[in-house]
Amino acid sequence: MQNKGINSSDVIIKADDIKKSYGETHAMRGISLEIKRGEVLAIMGPSGSGKSTLLHTLAGIIKPDSGKVYFSGSRIDNLNDHGRTMLRRTKFGFVFQFSQLVPELTAIDNVAVPLLLNGIPRGEAYHRAEQWLNKVGIADAKLNHLANQLSGGQIQRVAIARAMVINPEVLFADAPTGSLDSLNSELVMKMFIKTAKENGTTVVMVTHEPTIAAYADREIIVRDGRVEA
Ligand SMILES: Nc1ncnc2c1ncn2[C@@H]1O[C@H](COP(=O)(O)OP(=O)(O)O)[C@@H](O)[C@H]1O
Ligand SMILES: [Mg+2]
Repeated sequence: MQNKGINSSDVIIKADDIKKSYGETHAMRGISLEIKRGEVLAIMGPSGSGKSTLLHTLAGIIKPDSGKVYFSGSRIDNLNDHGRTMLRRTKFGFVFQFSQLVPELTAIDNVAVPLLLNGIPRGEAYHRAEQWLNKVGIADAKLNHLANQLSGGQIQRVAIARAMVINPEVLFADAPTGSLDSLNSELVMKMFIKTAKENGTTVVMVTHEPTIAAYADREIIVRDGRVEA
């Protein structure tokens, strides 16, 4: 009998009836889904419907009240802080609406930090950081600019480079271009999805923009804590 795909190698993330409430608020009312390795999944739906809660639960950041989350066949919903930190450092990348760059560091420092934390020697870390910044369209002249001197679009490009530099298996993005105008947003997302595809990175992204969801392999709509059929 089929084991619901838990062990099949093409499923990288699986959620099994996950629920989460904040007091009386039912943020997730029982969500089950499977994400294939290399897939680009867009999560859409109205504000407050549970998209961010779902994304953070799939990433092992939020513990569901019930239900299970698997990454590569192993449970991650019950990880301790250390396990979660290791996933974040080595397997998962994150890009949020308002990027968490360190404003007083340069663009290249920001991208090198995750590699330095993983014990990669300085020279190699900076070499790889530079390659990634070039790949996302940050010119050499900008590498040594402080993050707080970059434009919104440049900041999100640097944030994408920083997420991709560890070569994550899954990249989680929550409205990554939500702070950009629609032209910049589309440019950044096109670049982002193209690089993810080139690297075989699985992408799970929350977006409000149908033009961006259109670049995904698949879209799901979350409404009132459930995935709409
Ligand atoms: N940490 C929290 N504490 C209390 N309520 C929360 C918390 N996080 C989310 N919620 C509530 O859960 C519901 C779903 O939130 P969220 O997942 O952020 O939705 P979305 O990302 O779709 O806007 C909302 O009603 C929100 O107010
Ligand atoms: Mg949200």
